[in-house]
Amino acid sequence: MPRTKLVAGNWKMNTTLAEAKALAAAVVAGVESDDRIAVAVCPPFPWLLPVAEVLRGSPVALGAQDVYSEKKGAFTGEVSPGMLRECGCRYVIIGHSERRHILGESDAVVNHKVHAALDEGLHVILCIGETLAERERQLTERIVQRQVLAGCTGLKDDQLARLTIAYEPVWAIGTGQVATPEQAQEAHATIRATLRHVRGPAIAEALPILYGGSVTAENAAGLLHLPDVDGVLVGGASLKADSFLGIVRAAKK
Ligand code: 13P
Repeated sequence: MPRTKLVAGNWKMNTTLAEAKALAAAVVAGVESDDRIAVAVCPPFPWLLPVAEVLRGSPVALGAQDVYSEKKGAFTGEVSPGMLRECGCRYVIIGHSERRHILGESDAVVNHKVHAALDEGLHVILCIGETLAERERQLTERIVQRQVLAGCTGLKDDQLARLTIAYEPVWAIGTGQVATPEQAQEAHATIRATLRHVRGPAIAEALPILYGGSVTAENAAGLLHLPDVDGVLVGGASLKADSFLGIVRAAKK
């Protein structure tokens, strides 16, 4: 069965409330329901509810950019998976490189969050990817394998049905330096081979793997048609409806 493609916009810490609602409305206006492709937007936490209102009844799904690994309690400033569900989230991004590298999240923290989110019924977009220094030292394969294995530790097969991996090479994020199709396909094939090795062929073939890092409406088609690329996680280009919708169109072709 062909894997459904996912185009997800990670708005990061951008937009005012008015901008968030207008952007969501413009995305809704440009997306038609289509079985072969899923579309999601991931606004900042305070805009989840108002954006959910704008998305209501549309094929555009809501996602959050992070989550905490506990259900409730004395964790000042954190947001639980259940809270995200109540806000209407279908997806949550976990382990984004900005959280790993700016906020110091370890593989173990990421794995705890993945468990908590899947236990709550959320769909997880688990981000992995090597830094430039790691690529230059020919460590890409090793880093990607380690992050996949650590991120998926202890997950049951039925939970993996709600897991998506996003390969986001750190050197490509927000730099305008998109991975070449060869680099992306090579990394995605490594990820799938790693999954096949530890979880078997059925899970490896079914699990969607997104590419992220300087994706634009211009370069999206060249990435989205690679055999192991099942969608894209878009940062900067998701903040303008035109460019985001251009990427959605590229996924449909
Ligand atoms: P850019 O598309 O801005 O490079 O960001 C990618 C990203 O980090 C998506 O999560």
